[in-house]
Parts: sequence; C-alpha cells; structure tokens
Amino acid sequence: MKILITGASSGIGAELARLYANKENTLVLLARREERLQKLQADLIPHAKSVEIITADVTKFDVLQEKIKLMGHVDMVILNAGISLGHSYDITPFADFKNLYDVNVLSNHAILEILLPHFKARKKGKIVFISSLASLISMPSSKVYSSSKRALNAYAQGIRYKYKPHGIDVVNILPGFIQSELTDKNEFHMPFLLSTQEGAKRIYKAIEKNKIFYPFPFRFYLIILLLNFLPNFLRDKIVNSLNK
Ligand SMILES: NC(=O)c1ccc[n+]([C@@H]2O[C@H](COP(=O)([O-])OP(=O)(O)OC[C@H]3O[C@@H](n4cnc5c(N)ncnc54)[C@H](OP(=O)(O)O)[C@@H]3O)[C@@H](O)[C@H]2O)c1
Repeated sequence: MKILITGASSGIGAELARLYANKENTLVLLARREERLQKLQADLIPHAKSVEIITADVTKFDVLQEKIKLMGHVDMVILNAGISLGHSYDITPFADFKNLYDVNVLSNHAILEILLPHFKARKKGKIVFISSLASLISMPSSKVYSSSKRALNAYAQGIRYKYKPHGIDVVNILPGFIQSELTDKNEFHMPFLLSTQEGAKRIYKAIEKNKIFYPFPFRFYLIILLLNFLPNFLRDKIVNSLNK
C-alpha cells in the first residue's frame, strides 16, 4: 500500500509513520522540516517497503499540488498536518487566522483535488482526516482552531457521502489531548492527556477498522456531548467558570 502522511515530521504524524512502517507499505512523508523527515526516513527504511519524503509547505497550494501530481498512485492519504495558535483571549490577527485555515482546512482540499479523481477512477482509496474533539465545543481561547476543525468535520462528512458509493473510504478522527509539539505549548491542565504513542496507536486501530467518526478518549467525548446537551445558559456558566 502507498500511504501519504502529511505533517509527518513530528508528533502524531511521525508516530503513525512508525506504525505503518512494514514491508507491505511504501510511505510518503510530507512536511516542511526536511532534516526531521530525513531522520525519520533513515529510521524507517529498514522496516518499510520504501520511504519517500516530500518537503513542502501545505499552504503553498500550487507547489503542493505539483508535488502531489508527481507522486503517482496513492492508496491512502492521512491528512494530519495541522497547527494551533496556542491559547489566547486576544483578538486573533487576521493573518494568523488565515494561515490556520490554510493549513487546517484548505490544504486538505488542495491535496484531495489531485487525489480524488484517481481514487474515483480506480474505485478505491482511503482518506483519513485528523480533526479534533475541539471541533465539538468551542472555548473562548481556542475558537479559531475549533472552528477550523468543525469546518473539517463538515467537509469530511460531505466527502464521505459523495465518494463512499465510489469505493472510497473516509475516516474522521477526533482526538482529545495528545502529547506533541502542538500541546507542549499549553500551560493549562489537559484532561485525559495521552502519550503520542498511545494516541497514535488508537488512531491507527480506528483507521484499520474504517471508523467513519472516531472521537476519543471516550470519557472526554462523553463530557463534551453532555455539555452540548445542556441549555445554553447553563453551558455558558460552566464554560466561563472553566475559563476563569
Ligand atoms: N496533539 C493533540 O492533542 C491533538 C488533538 C487533536 C487533534 N490534533 C491534530 O493532530 C494533527 C497533528 O498534530 P500534532 O499534535 O502531532 O502536532 P505537531 O507535532 O505540531 O505536528 C504538526 C505537523 O504538521 C506539520 N505542519 C504544520 N504546518 C505545516 C505546513 N504549513 N506545511 C506542511 N506541514 C505543516 C508539521 O511539520 P513541519 O513543521 O515540519 O512543517 C508537523 O509535522 C494536527 O492536525 C492537530 O490539529 C492534535
């Protein structure tokens, strides 16, 4: 199987690459930090069928699309590249907002615009979106990130309805807190925090089981579901007290 993983230079993406490194799989690792990718490539070459790297900024859409076109056929894409803006109560600068949407939302469509016609022609393929539990509830300090992941959920759902009948599997993963460079910046208590290895292992299993919607850890998901069931005034009180 040929697997493209975006955001493979660290965290969840790098760990997923390790989990998929076996003699059946050709891995294509994409990110900006070339040295990180080369190091991971060297580590994984003995285990995988082959390991290629693509050094690319996913927000440079034209260059990205040219590089994806050169890849040839792909069996599965894990759309994992993502950023957060940290946690701030200030008004988000427009440029930061736009960049976050470019990475977390639009880059995924830039890639799929190239891959979907091939998946459709071959009547198979698998698309994995890495969303977030943050897509299900918006906190005052992370509203831009939450909104980007909620947009991703809507996009993933539509893609699933449209392309499942064409033999294309679509998996949407919604992790809670997982240790990574992204969460290392957080200065607050992260409930149900998982190690990178444990988080990636759960994602790997969900991908292998073709889960169309996989929010985890389950207890954290349940709390968010319950909060969303509350009347607005009560949920507002709880959220505001949590954010004091
Ligand atoms: N950690 C969590 O708690 C958590 C929870 C829910 C969802 N997620 C999602 O999981 C995904 C992976 O995050 P992570 O936690 O593993 O964080 P991470 O270690 O910071 O990894 C982010 C990856 O995205 C890549 N990336 C960022 N901007 C890019 C750009 N412009 N072009 C190309 N690649 C870019 C980074 O590579 P370069 O910097 O080398 O380009 C890096 O490989 C993200 O989509 C994140 O939103 C994480």
